This record gives sequence, structure tokens and C-alpha cells, in this order.
Amino acid sequence: MPCRMAKDEQSTKGTDTAWGGRFSEALDAVALRYSASVDVDKRLAPQDVRGSIAHVRMLAARGIVGEDEAEAIASGLEAIAGEIAAGDFAWDAAKEDVHMNVESALTERVGAVGGKLHTARSRNDQVATDMRLWTREACHATAERVDRFLAVLAVRAAGTVDVLMPGYTHLQRAQPVRLAHHLLAWSEMLDRDRGRLLDAANRLNESPLGCAALASTTFPLDRDRTASALGFARPMRNSLDAVADRDFLVEAVAALANCAVHLSRIAEELVLWSSQEFGFVTMSDAFTTGSSIMPQKKNPDMAELARGKTGRVVGDLVNLLVMLKGLPLAYNRDMQEDKAPVFDAFDTVDDTLDVLTGAIATATFHPARMKAALREGFLDATELADWLASKGVPFREAHHVVGRLVGRAVAEGKVLSELSLETLRAEHEAFDESVYGALDMETAVERRDLPGGPARRRVEAAIAELRGRLEGRELDVDALAGEAGAEARP
Ligand code: ARG
Repeated sequence: MPCRMAKDEQSTKGTDTAWGGRFSEALDAVALRYSASVDVDKRLAPQDVRGSIAHVRMLAARGIVGEDEAEAIASGLEAIAGEIAAGDFAWDAAKEDVHMNVESALTERVGAVGGKLHTARSRNDQVATDMRLWTREACHATAERVDRFLAVLAVRAAGTVDVLMPGYTHLQRAQPVRLAHHLLAWSEMLDRDRGRLLDAANRLNESPLGCAALASTTFPLDRDRTASALGFARPMRNSLDAVADRDFLVEAVAALANCAVHLSRIAEELVLWSSQEFGFVTMSDAFTTGSSIMPQKKNPDMAELARGKTGRVVGDLVNLLVMLKGLPLAYNRDMQEDKAPVFDAFDTVDDTLDVLTGAIATATFHPARMKAALREGFLDATELADWLASKGVPFREAHHVVGRLVGRAVAEGKVLSELSLETLRAEHEAFDESVYGALDMETAVERRDLPGGPARRRVEAAIAELRGRLEGRELDVDALAGEAGAEARP
């Protein structure tokens, strides 16, 4: 088959091949560009170096390499890690991936002894180890970002207990709640995502090192030693699974996709609430943009982008699942494609968490507009039906009675509390003067005094519980929220 080489691509033919004696010809230039992953996986360099140091120290402990050789290799690796961190490392796509780049820099630096590092190891267990280390850290880092978001919500909730607003179903005004109660609903969604990320970090915390290419190795490795040196709970049980498994990435990215979807729902509420139709919130200038043509505009772009970027994260999850589907054991090169979606999913969710944390911390809510919205929409219709039911009227009948009263009120351009007692009694004789007390919005909220409900004492207890939960994670809630610009105010 003729080689379809791009004009501007130089062939590497004739240069020394990376794969040793089996190959007499270098990789075709297009094939090299197609398969090189270093642009993406160089991000794994710190984990790669840590894994290599743990491996070579274990080789020395088992007498497979000399102690002095291991020391030379370890200090060479540390120097390379320093160069990489400082941005002084010359990455070479011809060396394919992060592993080959680091290893060849090591040999350049410490000489032929560098070639001993890869004893009893394959890039297959190496890359699986690197990805587990990277993902474990990333899950914890994202969880910390969620914590900061939760701290902001705890503080903003404390400042909005008094604010009544419509609760919605079908985006129709349904029953009154407290704004704090709504903000606390967001915190529940996100705290579950945090838990899922930490579950994923916990389950993936096993070491593939020592499984080599697929069938472990003939060398007497100490897998427990490398596992514990890298903070893994134990070595993975099966060598084929250890190099072939990527479900730990699916699990982490699924948690991120769930989180991104939650963030999109929160973002959508911010978009709606900041519209003139709602007028419930004004986002701060720091998190809004103007229009290049309409001088009056203040657009909730950050919330819109948070909503829009959800597609990327869901796409990352689908990408991983489809990449893995049908792959036979053990390692397949397809799996190299895992990195871009995993990095993208974490980057996107981390940024979205940060931007929404700042937007919510600095937003101004408008209690008067929320209160005005309570007046229209018959949010007290359930109160009226419940009131009748409490007088012994079967709820179904009460529901019909109130439905007819709502119809009358609509026709007369009134709210329910404006209907006369005579009008009420015309629909049901159980009505008396005391019904008007039940139609007050504050009363309606206070009567929903169950665990998880919007009554003041329940919301205050929920805020205290959230703060306690965060303090149990050794967080300073007020300091964290303050960093993001949050204050206890509407
Ligand atoms: N860059 C490769 C990856 O991420 C490393 C493993 C390569 N293994 C191999 N047998 N070609 O999957």
C-alpha cells in the first residue's frame, strides 16, 4: 500500500528506531503523527516519574538492580521532573509518549544504567499506574472545589432564610418556599457528586505495577512495596485486568458528567432568574458580559457556558465507553485514547465549578420580586385545599372545590385571599373566617414543618447540618465562602 505522507511531514525513515532489533525501518511520518500522544499525555509526567522511582527502588530492594544504580536512576528522574515542572524539558513527538520521552532523557542524563529502569515493567502497567495516580488526585481536587461551592451555598442560604419565593413544578409557580431552601437543594445535588468522585477515587486505588505487559514477569518483584510506596491500598489482583481495565476512568467521568448536568440545571435557573421576566437575581459585573450592539444588555454568559459545556463532559463519557466497548483483553492501543476525554472532563467541570461558585457568591437576589411573584399564580391553592381537608372534607373533593374557586378568581381578576367568605361558602359550607389565616404565604411555608421541609426551623437546621458536614471535613466555611466573595445577605 502506498504511503500517504503529508507533504510538509518529514519522514523519520532511516533514523534509529525506538523498537530495537525487530524493526529495520522507522515509523512512517503520518503513522507517527497519528500515534504519538505526548502532546496529551505529557501531563502525566509527575505521576510517571513517581511510579518509576517506586519501581526502581523496589528493584533494588529485591536485588534486581544495584542500590547505586537505583539511586542514579531515581535522582536522574527527579532532575527530569524538575526540568519538566520548570518548562525546560524538550518534548519530542518522535518519542511517542511521556514514558518514552522521560526514559530516553534519563538515559541521556545518567548513561546506559538508565536502561535498567524498564526491567520487569511494560508501558502497559506503567500507563495504567500513571492514570490511576492522576485520576485519584484529580478526584480529590475536584471534591475540594465542590466543598468551596457548598461553603458559598451555606453562607448565602444563611442570608436568605427570610426570603420567600415561588417553588416550581413544570416551571409553573407551585408552592411557596424559602430561597435558602432552594439554595440548599443545590448543595445536596453537588454533595452527592462529590461523594461519587471520592467513591471512584477509593475504588481505583489499587496498583497495576508489576503486571508488566499482561502476564506479570519472571522477576521476583515486590508488588506490595510499590503499591504502598504510591499510596495504593493493594496491588491489583489480576494481571490481565490490571493492564486492560479503564472502568475506573468511566466511573470518574460518569461522576463528572452527573456533576456537569447538575451544574447545568443550576446554571439554567440563574439564566431564568436573571431574565427580566423573573427578575429574581442580578449577577455581578464580574460574571456577566455586555452586548456589542445593545448597550442595555447584561448577559449571564457564565451560566450559559456552564450549561453549554455540559455537552463536552457527557461527550467525554460517551467517548470513553465507546472506545472500550468490545475490546478484547488485555491491553489494546485504542486505550491510549482515554486521556483526552478524562483530562477534558476534569478541566471542564473544575472550571465550571469555579465560575459558578464565584457567580453565586457575588449575585444579588431580589426578595421583593420573589415576593411579588408569590402573589400571582395561586400558590396558596394547596393551602385552601389542605384547610378544607383538615376540616374533614375528603381531599379529592377539596381539590375540586378549590379548582372552581381558582376559576372564579381568574374570571374576576382576583387572588384567592380576595374572594369573599360568601363566595367561598357558596362552593363549600365548611369555609369560615379562619381560612384567611391559612392563605398567608409565610404561614403556608411555616406549616410545612417536616424534616426536609421549608419551615424556618427546618431550613435553619439544614444550614447548621451543612455547616457541620463541611466542618467535619476540617473546612473553615466562612473563610472559604469569603474567598469566593460570598456574604450572608440576599
Ligand atoms: N501511550 C500508550 C498508552 O497510553 C502507552 C502504552 C503503550 N503500550 C503499547 N503496548 N504500545 O496506551
